[in-house]
Amino acid sequence: MRKDGGKSFFGPNVLRICQSADAVFMALHGANGEDGKIQACFELMGIPYTGTDFVSAAMAMDKGITKDIFKAYGIPTPAGIRLRKGGQESEKVPFPCIVKACCGGSSVGVCIARNEEEYRAAKEEAFRYDNEVVVEQYITGREFSVGVMDGKALPVIEIAPKQGFYDYKNKYQAGSAVETCPAEITPEQTARMQQIAEQVFAALRLKNYARMDFMMEADGSMYCLEANTLPGMTPTSLLPQEAAAVGISFEQLCERILSNAL
Ligand SMILES: Nc1ncnc2c1ncn2[C@@H]1O[C@H](COP(=O)(O)OP(=O)(O)O)[C@@H](O)[C@H]1O
Ligand SMILES: [Mg+2]
Repeated sequence: MRKDGGKSFFGPNVLRICQSADAVFMALHGANGEDGKIQACFELMGIPYTGTDFVSAAMAMDKGITKDIFKAYGIPTPAGIRLRKGGQESEKVPFPCIVKACCGGSSVGVCIARNEEEYRAAKEEAFRYDNEVVVEQYITGREFSVGVMDGKALPVIEIAPKQGFYDYKNKYQAGSAVETCPAEITPEQTARMQQIAEQVFAALRLKNYARMDFMMEADGSMYCLEANTLPGMTPTSLLPQEAAAVGISFEQLCERILSNAL
């Protein structure tokens, strides 16, 4: 809600300020900022901005569309289905499965279901956030993330929550997950995950930079969960840690994102 009661998403003068800048550094998360809407608006107004464009942002934000593209390009992703609110369920994903709102983020609306009762509750929770949800095979294993800048992968980072999975609390409460970069996996596994991350970057037509989330089973099978087009960018966020592992400081990283966008 705007204080001035206006209907525009943008507050007074925001677009004027953006228009007078050389470029806008995108540091938004979630709806509008990460799903391509602001990017499309900027494009029509001739405002240069960092990060990916509106088409790829919209595709990457929707976990259902992302899954379809992954399947079409042979990118390993957990087996799963899309469900619409009130729609028929023709296929069933075996338990345990994970239910997520299609357009969610920050693990909001992501639930594990081990039986029918939990499955019903998980769907109810996910449908609170979106009319479409993704149900997929639960992957037991370690979690990783790989940033890609201008099509080239950065080092792999491992995220090990001290408790449970990488939910909202574990993402944003300092010290609740152990992050290791470069991840302690074999050079072959590293190369493979980086290669998949670069494939995802190309398949979703991503530009500038993005960060892909992965899970890896004990036997080394890896699955890409999603692409984040505006990954966390605090100095201690995952992508800045990956950049630091190859000697790129936070300042240099920001500078590089900006100059590449221009
Ligand atoms: N198929 C899966 N198997 C196991 N854990 C999963 C699976 N999908 C998601 N998760 C867990 O839930 C978290 C959030 O899921 P993700 O797809 O990355 O959505 P977002 O980060 O946009 O909320 C992941 O970081 C991971 O810990
Ligand atoms: Mg994620």
